Amino acid sequence: MRILKTDFPDPYRIVSKCSLSFVVGRQTRSEEYMDKLRVLLVGVGGFGHNWWTLLPPRPHIHVTGLVDPSVEALEAGGEALGVPPRLRFTDLRTALETVEADLAIQNTPPHLRLEHARLLLPRGMHLLTAKPLTETLAEAAEIIGLARTHGRMVVVNQQLRYGPIPRLLRRVLAEGAVGTIDHIDFTFHQRRSWTDRLKDVPSPLFVESSVHHFDFLRSIAGCEPDRVFADAWASAWTGARGETTGTAILKMSRGFRINYRASRSARADLDPSVKTGWYGKWLIEGDAGIIQGDEREGLTLNGKPLISGEDASRDAGVYPLIGVLFDDLCRTLAQGGVPQTSGEDNLWTMATCQAAFEAYQRESWIDVPALVRGG
Ligand SMILES: NC(=O)c1ccc[n+]([C@@H]2O[C@H](COP(=O)([O-])OP(=O)(O)OC[C@H]3O[C@@H](n4cnc5c(N)ncnc54)[C@H](O)[C@@H]3O)[C@@H](O)[C@H]2O)c1
Repeated sequence: MRILKTDFPDPYRIVSKCSLSFVVGRQTRSEEYMDKLRVLLVGVGGFGHNWWTLLPPRPHIHVTGLVDPSVEALEAGGEALGVPPRLRFTDLRTALETVEADLAIQNTPPHLRLEHARLLLPRGMHLLTAKPLTETLAEAAEIIGLARTHGRMVVVNQQLRYGPIPRLLRRVLAEGAVGTIDHIDFTFHQRRSWTDRLKDVPSPLFVESSVHHFDFLRSIAGCEPDRVFADAWASAWTGARGETTGTAILKMSRGFRINYRASRSARADLDPSVKTGWYGKWLIEGDAGIIQGDEREGLTLNGKPLISGEDASRDAGVYPLIGVLFDDLCRTLAQGGVPQTSGEDNLWTMATCQAAFEAYQRESWIDVPALVRGG
């Protein structure tokens, strides 16, 4: 199977200003910024620092304001983004008295998303939120409902599905590369510090890591999980309160299974080779083919190269992929359509995480569509 160049978007190719027109302004704006997408950055520090370098080279973007209670983050982010001190705010409500925008990028702790969405959506802003969209499915559903009411878009920054391996697998499986899929085995092994903010999170594996994996597994599978069974535990050497290692079986609506095994506490200190990249290790078996491999070595289809390790890991990091997702969102805002990682789509990713968590807590299979419907 040949890999088309189009499987690999150039993350540094910046959507050119003239190709996009953001006719969104019900507010007045100066001539200079007439054809720009106005962005309010809510949560400037932490993961938000990615935007300090991603936004300035994009000529169609105008950052109209910054919000963060951290004065240091405001100052550093403001300098990097060229936002003057009078447009830097420590509180969202105050910012909204002055600042207008077409899109709010929310890089805040998840418990703030709903509260902020209730302020941002009625003011006509689309939302690009960090993952997870919210802490609960009910909150996520409320945000999506609000967005519908106000005719705005909610998009979740699940950038990993734009990586080379997920994009390639999505396409070749849809083209029937392995025939009818029987199962997909996916393994992930990494080592994280347990002194970070996740140390006391009840479900660091399923909430923080699996949210990425379940998102790209859904995208690759081309169908949704019907039922999930899972087990998870805190590996003894971590000192973490919540689970760090786990396993899940996803029964997909098209009948095949995904066997998922993941660890955030792999003993890479003893043997670094145990570590996988974020795209893990793969074995996909169908009645007409088998795909296997990983990001380092590349993937094979029936023993023949499908993608090299070099191509599989090119521009596969967090930073370039956020740029790809952002450009996709800008294109959608300008030209119409629904972005791949819309809030509606993300409900299924959140529900899969929730199902895995509930399955190991209750030691039973969990119905995913029922969670999505709010059941
Ligand atoms: N997509 C990814 O790969 C990825 C990677 C890391 C983190 N994240 C997600 O990004 C989100 C933020 O994580 P983080 O590590 O940056 O967290 P963080 O705790 O560093 O918070 C980010 C910023 O939000 C600010 N903030 C706090 N309260 C605020 C408020 N009321 N108004 C405005 N700003 C406020 C903080 O001061 C900080 O600068 C999380 O949901 C996390 O899961 C995503």
